[in-house]
Amino acid sequence: MNNLVIAVDGPAGAGKSTIAKIVAEKLNINYIDTGAMYRAITYKCLENKVDINNEEEVKKIAKNTNIDFKDNNIYLDGKIINEEIRTMKVSNNVSNVAKIKEVRYLMVDVQREIGKRNSVILDGRDIGSYVFPNAHYKFFLIATPQERGSRRHRELIEKGYEVTIDEIINDIIKRDEIDSNREFAPLVKATDAIEIDTTGKSINEVVELVVSKINI
Ligand code: CDP
Ligand code: CDP
Repeated sequence: MNNLVIAVDGPAGAGKSTIAKIVAEKLNINYIDTGAMYRAITYKCLENKVDINNEEEVKKIAKNTNIDFKDNNIYLDGKIINEEIRTMKVSNNVSNVAKIKEVRYLMVDVQREIGKRNSVILDGRDIGSYVFPNAHYKFFLIATPQERGSRRHRELIEKGYEVTIDEIINDIIKRDEIDSNREFAPLVKATDAIEIDTTGKSINEVVELVVSKINI
């Protein structure tokens, strides 16, 4: 592996994507939000009225979907869907899509291909443990469910969504449970990952901590 690969994993709302995006800019490398890929498939299923519990139908959708990242945008079959994938409806369904092994195979292929061609920081659940077990650096971010819930709540309210903090905390706890207990490539801290508890830490503090561990 010649390109620099940095894995950032952890549960929902721990600050992975915020931190990874800033670190990518600082190091001038690419950033890939792998959760956005599973969200994109989920969004497409919902748009097409596919029952998320019908694995065969979901697999069919995933096989016939093109996901691309360019200039901090995510493209689903050629269309930018940055905002559409952040709704509670998508959040409530995504973990059931992401537990399907064949869907993961398809997404992981794309992620590995990107890592083969570019220096990249990826955030997700299984990046250090499964997608890039030989990543140069692995971080595992955590925070209390209360803090993760209130961060995500603040963010969604600012964007104009009407949602309660309890709905959000329930969603992240439920997703953490499904993500951690699925059979294939679950959410788990890689044994060689550096764990950072971001509870009570500012974004800058976490960025500095991460950058201080990286020698390039
Ligand atoms: O940003 P947030 O933490 O809410 O979630 P996300 O990173 O957008 O990921 C959404 C969902 O995708 C997760 O709850 C997982 O079910 C799934 N996911 C996964 O299974 N593997 C990854 N590498 C990334 C996300
Ligand atoms: O990607 P992940 O689901 O792990 O979390 P995120 O989307 O990066 O962060 C969720 C929210 O928490 C965002 O609104 C961040 O700005 C905020 N955040 C924070 O307040 N303090 C941190 N140390 C990290 C993130």
